[in-house]
Formats: sequence, C-alpha cells, structure tokens
Amino acid sequence: MEFFIDTANIDEIKEINSWGILSGVTTNPSLISKEGRIFEDVVKEITEIVDGPISAEVTATESDLMVKQGRELSKIHKNIIIKIPMTEEGLKAVKLLSKENIKTNVTLVFSVNQALLAASAGATYVSPFIGRLDDIGQDGMLLISELKEIFNLYNVQTKIIAASIRNTVHVRECALNGADIATVPYGVFKQMVKHPLTNTGLENFLKDFEKVETKGDF
Ligand code: E4P
Repeated sequence: MEFFIDTANIDEIKEINSWGILSGVTTNPSLISKEGRIFEDVVKEITEIVDGPISAEVTATESDLMVKQGRELSKIHKNIIIKIPMTEEGLKAVKLLSKENIKTNVTLVFSVNQALLAASAGATYVSPFIGRLDDIGQDGMLLISELKEIFNLYNVQTKIIAASIRNTVHVRECALNGADIATVPYGVFKQMVKHPLTNTGLENFLKDFEKVETKGDF
C-alpha cells in the first residue's frame, strides 16, 4: 500500500515528505480554503515538493465546466490528477478527460456501485471515504474490502485510494483489506511512527551505550 498525504499545508507536506515515505498528495476545496492562499499557487508549490500524483479538485458542477477546469489544472504540472465529485455530471467529465489522457480521481465515493460507475467511466483512482461512513454508523472498511474483491474479480485497473482516514487503526485495516493507496492526514502519520516500547527501548539503548568507549567523535 502506498501513502499519500491528505492536506494542502506546505509545512506538513514538507515534513512528511522528508521521511521518504510519500508517493503523492490529495487536496480538496476545504483543505485548500484553510490555507488562505491562491489555489493554483498552492497546487504548484506541492508539485515542486512531491514527485508523484497530486490531486486537485474541480469546483464546477456541470461536466463541460469540470472539463475546462480540469484542463487548466492539468497544465500546472504533469503530475496533477483531476479530482471530480461522484455525480452524473462528474462521470461525464471523467470520460471526457480520460479521452484526453488526463488522469482523474473520483471523490466522495460511499458505495460499491458509485465506484463501479467511476471505474467504468475511466477513472484512474476512486476515493472511498471511510471516516465519513463510520460517522453515520456504516462500515467504511467493508467498502474498501468489497471494492478490492470486485476490482480483482473483474481486473479493474482503477486504483483504490482509501480516504477520510481518521486514525492509525484505519491505516492498518486499509492495508489488510487491499487498498492500493491510503491518503493519510498529517496527525495520523505522526501517530503511526510512535510506539511506547520504541521510546523506552531507545532510552535504554542510549543509557547503556554511555558506558561504552568509542574512537573519537562517534
Ligand atoms: C480525500 O481525498 C479527502 O480529501 C479526505 O480524505 C476527506 O477526509 P475527511 O472526511 O476527514 O474530510
């Protein structure tokens, strides 16, 4: 499973990217709006940090305008993926963009049927939202496992980006259930590194090593 970061914050992207574990970035209009900056400038800056797929979302609701926005965004950098909401108009836009070899990420996916439609329209990625399903008492992780099973069964090439991840348990279960990618918020990445036994183990190693002699400035 690959890791994307789900943020539009440059400092967060730089920090997690410095760990050497990031394959891409996802943004959405809410994340962009938190930054209080020009949309296109943020997206461009992200492409200069992470060498991988960077999802930037259209805000039009009609297919023709979605396609127009998608074309504009894709001019910013070759790694831009056009994020399109899962609507009837969105499906049309995905089809049109895919004919122009512009990659898409269909977002706000909450059911197997929606994901199947997106894949049939030619989506490069689908983003099932786990956390938001859990929030309304449905099983977000079940959607990931069912999608993986069905995509395997029919050899669907569309990649599954597990989105709306809220905690480290989500990440582990996404990996177990075969998500191709997990797009993880900054805070969850920070939690993933930690384990109490790592901390105490390291403290003890360092304390014991104080008694060891070394050559020079080790
Ligand atoms: C995915 O691409 C979305 O940006 C994101 O995962 C939504 O997460 P949220 O439900 O925490 O807003």
